[in-house]
Amino acid sequence: MFRPIDGDSGSRTVRVRLEGRELQARAGDTVAMALLKAGIGHLRETPVSGEPRAPMCLMGVCFDCLVQVNGQPNVQACMVRVAEGMDIRLQHGARPLAASA
Ligand code: FES
Repeated sequence: MFRPIDGDSGSRTVRVRLEGRELQARAGDTVAMALLKAGIGHLRETPVSGEPRAPMCLMGVCFDCLVQVNGQPNVQACMVRVAEGMDIRLQHGARPLAASA
């Protein structure tokens, strides 16, 4: 189980959506922290083999925490704080390529 060392009591919460499902998260937590606390085992799958990946370094180095946030792919979940109404999607394989203009 993942839990903060300073506890959760008295903390303000925000509502986010993960794959369309509402989650309560502690204001100030990163997306990675919120998802780990919610019991989400892995956040993405590798593009080539489909192997699951979970946040490892929690400091922006390993890139194993990539998710989609508000439609933006390849967001490092450990580097972004949760915000009210945030739409989070797990990332499956490679992100879609943007159409060229
Ligand atoms: S957990 Fe390593 S970059 Fe986010």
